[in-house]
Amino acid sequence: METAFRLMLWLSLLMCSTSPFALAIHHYKRWPVGGSTRFYDFKVQTMEVKKLCKSTSIVTINGIYPGPVLYAQEGDRVIVKVTNESPYNASIHWHGLRQRLSCWSDGPAYITQCPIQPGQTFTYEFTLYQQKGTLFYHAHISWLRATLHGAIVIYPKTGVPYPFPNPYEEHIIILGEWWSMNPIQLEQSTLASGGAAPSAEAFVINGHPGPLYNCSENDVYSIDAVSGKTYLLRLVNAALNTDHFFSIASHKLTVVEADGEYTKPFTVDHLMLGPGQTANVLVKADQSMDKYQIAMGPYVTAKNLTFQNITSIAHFRYTSADLSSMARPATLPFYNNSLVVNANMDALRSLEVTNLPLQIDENFFFTIGLNVGQCNRQNPNLTCQGPNGGIFAASMNNISFTRPNVSLLQAYYNSLHGIYTADFPGLPMKMYDFVNGAPNNSPNDTNAMFGTRVKVLEYGAKVQLILQDTGTVTTESHPMHLHGYSFYVVGYGFGNYDPNTAKFNLVDPPLMNTINVPVGGWAAIRFIADNPGVWFMHCHIEVHLSWGLSMVFIVKNGDGPLESLPHPPSDLPSC
Ligand code: C2O
Repeated sequence: METAFRLMLWLSLLMCSTSPFALAIHHYKRWPVGGSTRFYDFKVQTMEVKKLCKSTSIVTINGIYPGPVLYAQEGDRVIVKVTNESPYNASIHWHGLRQRLSCWSDGPAYITQCPIQPGQTFTYEFTLYQQKGTLFYHAHISWLRATLHGAIVIYPKTGVPYPFPNPYEEHIIILGEWWSMNPIQLEQSTLASGGAAPSAEAFVINGHPGPLYNCSENDVYSIDAVSGKTYLLRLVNAALNTDHFFSIASHKLTVVEADGEYTKPFTVDHLMLGPGQTANVLVKADQSMDKYQIAMGPYVTAKNLTFQNITSIAHFRYTSADLSSMARPATLPFYNNSLVVNANMDALRSLEVTNLPLQIDENFFFTIGLNVGQCNRQNPNLTCQGPNGGIFAASMNNISFTRPNVSLLQAYYNSLHGIYTADFPGLPMKMYDFVNGAPNNSPNDTNAMFGTRVKVLEYGAKVQLILQDTGTVTTESHPMHLHGYSFYVVGYGFGNYDPNTAKFNLVDPPLMNTINVPVGGWAAIRFIADNPGVWFMHCHIEVHLSWGLSMVFIVKNGDGPLESLPHPPSDLPSC
């Protein structure tokens, strides 16, 4: 209640729209603006929260957890002034916003900007060119996004309806993971151990663990439903390290949008979202007047991984239901049920396809997976807790990404030498049975190479990229996210990718920003590299990102108008 009140107060104080004429005073060339300009004032702050009977200091925006919703309309200019009032370095990424000609505002620390240091301010500015739907923002430094995240809701342009019947009400549902440990320490201690990340203490729905957790009987999110009405749920998986299933007892979910793009509607009992994925689903309150569980639980495909397995529960309660009654139980698929995930994927089709490249200029093949490095540290019992007494790493094409100490975008823009090399391989350097065998077939040779390597693309290149999961350590489903673009997922399958047998959908493939590459399988994506800048591509499982499961595309400027990256903003933080 209090949160809702503060949110409303905050929105009324801080959100305003101005006419597009105000834009004329701005300094650099930008994407043409059609809508309003919306200003937001984000203060990165710490706040005390009590969960699971423990008091924890978390980092969030404007004292609201999950953070305030960023509302806008397609075509709007958005200006967010971020002031860092926390004691930690911060940066914010607008996940799924393509940042057309605004790479400087993308947000990943050490990729497009240096962190906003405590006490400093940076103003992010971007246009929601051809963007709509549900997306989210999150911190993009260390593991701060554990609690620093919030929804982005982009409504269609004025007068443009949804391509489905207007819902009676809309609700945002953010899936998260809760730790009482500070997320920066959590990352540091995980990396120092050489081993796996500790499991979350709780899964949370809009910040609430729900009644199955200790001390949480009343820490439950709930939606009041009116019988016969249809609800639009805007789902966001903001969890740090786990894929999640979602379901509502006795109710069907009709998916109408995924990753901020409309889909052909399809109806399921369970939906799986990887971290970084969003979906809009319609739910009709067509059951008897009662209280129903909304459930969230893990989808885990890695072998030998310990994980939290207590379901987070929220309530979907009809207005006349007896509030003290037991909620009807929701079911979730078994934790490693890939059939459900596959059925979701099979059903996912774009409502409309524009700009799908049928011919391709660049055909890349990137392996993705975990590695184990040999123990070269003191105190192996404490510091080499990976498989066989080694140190976990993760890589793409067996290159484990080393984060630089300055931002790559600045290094590229200012032609600084020695920060990165432009030799990220377009194909694996060794061919082997990716799914079933480690390189050289030797169980102990699972080392990765380390480096800050990038792949440079010509402006306008039509790119096809096959992402291939490896079983070097364990096969696992990886939610792969690309900054600066959405991509068509034209194919996917299990086993090693074979161009002779792979089936592609070039008719109505989904347009996504994060694709869960199937466990022990592959996914094929296509995009046109028409947004100049430095764009991070990485696994959205945070511990995999920390271990190096990432790479960077640099997309060159084009020759035409609106094909060049503008100058950096004057308040860009320095490292
Ligand atoms: Cu949502 Cu680079 O991430």
